[in-house]
Amino acid sequence: MEKYLKKIPEELKGLINNVRDIAAKKNIKAYLVGGFVRDLILGVKNLDLDIVSAGDGIGLAQDFADAHGVKITVHQQFGTATVFVKPALKVDFSSSRKEYYPQPAHLPLVQAGSLKDDLFRRDFTINSMAIGLKDGSLVDYFGGLDDLRHKVIRVLHPLSFNDDPTRILRAVRFEQRYNFKIEPRTLKLLKEASRARLLERIHPHRTRDDLILVLKEKEPIKEIRRIEKLTGFDFVSPKLKVNARTYALLRAFKKQIDYFNKNYTRRRPLDNWVIYLIALLDCLDVKTTKGICARLGLRKGEEKRTVTYKQTKLKALKYLSKARVKPAKIFALLEPLSYETILALRGTYNHPLFRRNITDFLDIYNGMRIFVSGNDLRGLGVLPGPRYQEIFTQVLNAKLNGRVKTKEEELALIKQLLRKRS
Ligand code: CTP
Repeated sequence: MEKYLKKIPEELKGLINNVRDIAAKKNIKAYLVGGFVRDLILGVKNLDLDIVSAGDGIGLAQDFADAHGVKITVHQQFGTATVFVKPALKVDFSSSRKEYYPQPAHLPLVQAGSLKDDLFRRDFTINSMAIGLKDGSLVDYFGGLDDLRHKVIRVLHPLSFNDDPTRILRAVRFEQRYNFKIEPRTLKLLKEASRARLLERIHPHRTRDDLILVLKEKEPIKEIRRIEKLTGFDFVSPKLKVNARTYALLRAFKKQIDYFNKNYTRRRPLDNWVIYLIALLDCLDVKTTKGICARLGLRKGEEKRTVTYKQTKLKALKYLSKARVKPAKIFALLEPLSYETILALRGTYNHPLFRRNITDFLDIYNGMRIFVSGNDLRGLGVLPGPRYQEIFTQVLNAKLNGRVKTKEEELALIKQLLRKRS
């Protein structure tokens, strides 16, 4: 009975036992469910715990959060709560519930239900299993374990994709992630839902979330290929055509991500998915891209990185594909850009000098600062004003171009500039 609980990694055992003890004290039956159970059986690491309880999920979550002195977010109207144990470790709590979809592709109406109801409302059999915390028994009403063993993605009922069309993307995600197969009947239902354009009928923010999850997968290129084959990208924009150039860019960008992660381990972590999004949207002009970003409700920074790539690439190619480009020029072009945009640029043109200049930027110039400050300028008798910025820029350019290195040399240069001026 307890064989599944034994598979739980050490770092989670204490937490889960704690939920079990609190549930026992409150006389509530509690279960681990969903993706965590799937991954536990597969032996895949997963730090998103999902607990369903028969009754008062929020109370259970509250007591658990209090016991650990950590933050909790409660969604009273859905009867759910999330407890953030550590940045990368959260526990979702809910009371078992039943869902009704009054209209296809709309959010469901929810009411209390049994554990079986709760598991039946889920996307695929492999995500519909539960483990009882009290005795570690596996609850598997819909053949999830068998499907896991046979590497199969299967919906629980024929209306699953109508209820929630984001499951089209989820089916591809799990299929590609685990190298499973969407079984024939499910595939037929998926294609019907796709022909009925159900993905285009849901709120774009929901498709955005699932698109981002696709792009965050370990191998997004094969996921994109499968989505393209099964349903296309009209749900992003009817103008979005994924073609050989898109795949070439996706592959080239992946190499850039690997290159950056290997060579620049101390820089901030990349948002890989933004880089893949830049490749995916490459065929579209700036206006269409901005329209898509707005419709999907992407954050300003995400939109900026995507749009800036398009606006900068020709200029960057023109100025950076030469020998002996002044470092100050490279800096002026690239310093305002994010790493995601820079790597997308580097991946776009396989031109040795262009790449060399970007590498020099990443290796040498990126983040370069001067030593002198406003205090130093005041000390030299310069009155505060726009002149300060001019001087700083001149000093920085001199530093980038290798004409000054130390603070003394910077001060000497400033004195020289002031003499010239007077
Ligand atoms: N679920 C569902 N339909 C959806 C989204 C979620 O039925 N559209 C159910 C599934 O049972 C899923 C669980 O809610 O396992 C948790 O959802 P989520 O955390 O999004 O998915 P995971 O299965 O944990 O997937 P991942 O490993 O990608 O986080």
